[in-house]
Amino acid sequence: MQEIESDVVIIGAGASGLSAADALVADGFTVTVVEARDRVGGRLWTEEIQGVTLELGGQWVSPDQTALIDMIEELGLETYARYRDGDSIYVAESGAVSRFEEDFPVPASTQDQIQGLIETVDALVAEIDVKAPWSHPRAAELDSISWRDWLAEQTDDVEARTLVSIFVAEAMLTKPAHTFSLLQALLMAASAGSFTHLVDDGFLLDKRVVGGLQQVPLRLAARLGSSVQLGQAARRVAWDDESVVVTTDSLMVRAKRVIVAVPPNLYGRLSFEPALPAAQHQLHQHLSLGLVIKVHAVYDRPFWRDTGLSGTAFGPHMTLHEAYDNTYLGSEGGTLVGFVSDTSADAMIALEPDARREHLLECLATYFGPEALDPVVYFESDWASEEWTRGAYAASFDIGGLSRYGALLRDPVGPIHWSTSDLAAEGYQHVDGAIRIGRETATSIASQLGGATGPS
Ligand code: FDA
Repeated sequence: MQEIESDVVIIGAGASGLSAADALVADGFTVTVVEARDRVGGRLWTEEIQGVTLELGGQWVSPDQTALIDMIEELGLETYARYRDGDSIYVAESGAVSRFEEDFPVPASTQDQIQGLIETVDALVAEIDVKAPWSHPRAAELDSISWRDWLAEQTDDVEARTLVSIFVAEAMLTKPAHTFSLLQALLMAASAGSFTHLVDDGFLLDKRVVGGLQQVPLRLAARLGSSVQLGQAARRVAWDDESVVVTTDSLMVRAKRVIVAVPPNLYGRLSFEPALPAAQHQLHQHLSLGLVIKVHAVYDRPFWRDTGLSGTAFGPHMTLHEAYDNTYLGSEGGTLVGFVSDTSADAMIALEPDARREHLLECLATYFGPEALDPVVYFESDWASEEWTRGAYAASFDIGGLSRYGALLRDPVGPIHWSTSDLAAEGYQHVDGAIRIGRETATSIASQLGGATGPS
């Protein structure tokens, strides 16, 4: 067993762990990052699949994500805009397919209801402290009703509430709308600045990074060099008030502090000695990852553009509920990406791969026509099957969990600190949040440890 001593040991080389490591090293502290996988980036992963570059995990950057934007600039990376010229497609519950520009092609009364709901949610979001949603005077009440039931109380227009629901349920938390609370939905919107931002794909899915968003962790890891140890799954965290020993199968790292930078559904994979406090044990069991399959279909050309389509499509009753043009910069071909969430994803997972592919390509054909049936490359990002993630996009509380346990969410336990996008305030569930919480955790540890001991 190799032994290493560092000021701080970090478990997980995703965007959050590496941001924390980078900030600590800049402050003159020594760090060791242990990463279970044989690559860095966690939920950021750019791969060549049958000769085509695909971003299998996170990829988009929105204008409010200033921590990520600053990081992209600092690392010398460039961005490009998502292709979005032309009409979008909407598939109604009846199966009717229509084109639209700005607003969903629904009756004017439904459109009015949608607008009213957006304004109501925005007003509630404005009351929420994104760093402490549990401190809202009515937090327990807002946390006791599901997003679905609250929407049903606001309007009888089923299409309006389905279309509003989807922007938090299928598109963000990737859980059915009856399984999480209004308060959790408000946190999701507050973390993006407003609910208006969440319903605006032009805002939310604005830019991509040249080389893929995994370039962020790759470049951070390159700066950190041999401090990042791949293929080292942390198994045991032995701690007392002032120190910690993290053990993998072949490494023992002694440090003053540990940052656990893995999604909370994986905390239970670590053996804490002594055990964590009871409230932490309970808190962790009320946070779970959502479920979404990201479907990539690559064609020899972006054929949908021929007829003035942007590649954007929504079908709240379709298995594949949203799709976008995801053509990689400079590519001669054209790529569509689509998403299958929560119970639709359950149904797809139950199918054999060929049947699943056939069904999902039929969804794309419903949106964009029969040419969509014959991609040159087809790939499904299946994060739920990944040992070191087990879901996507990120974690959220069950009903009542946020008001009951939220205040403990980011509290350190002795020398143990928590850092992942799943626990972030601004940028929650996104790379922006992973970076913010990583840097905040580094600042907090630096102030606890005082002067650095390592090289500056
Ligand atoms: P992350 O999970 O990335 O990193 C944790 C690391 O810990 C992993 O590398 C893991 O292997 C490692 N680990 C786990 N257990 C370990 C152990 N015991 N020992 C050692 N290492 C261990 N965001 C965004 O901003 N824009 C977007 O477009 C999208 N889209 C999107 C699509 C899909 C399909 C996914 C899955 C996710 C997104 N996201 C996104 C979300 C974004 O990717 C995510 O929030 C961050 O990458 C999370 O970074 P973290 O570092 O917090 O966790």
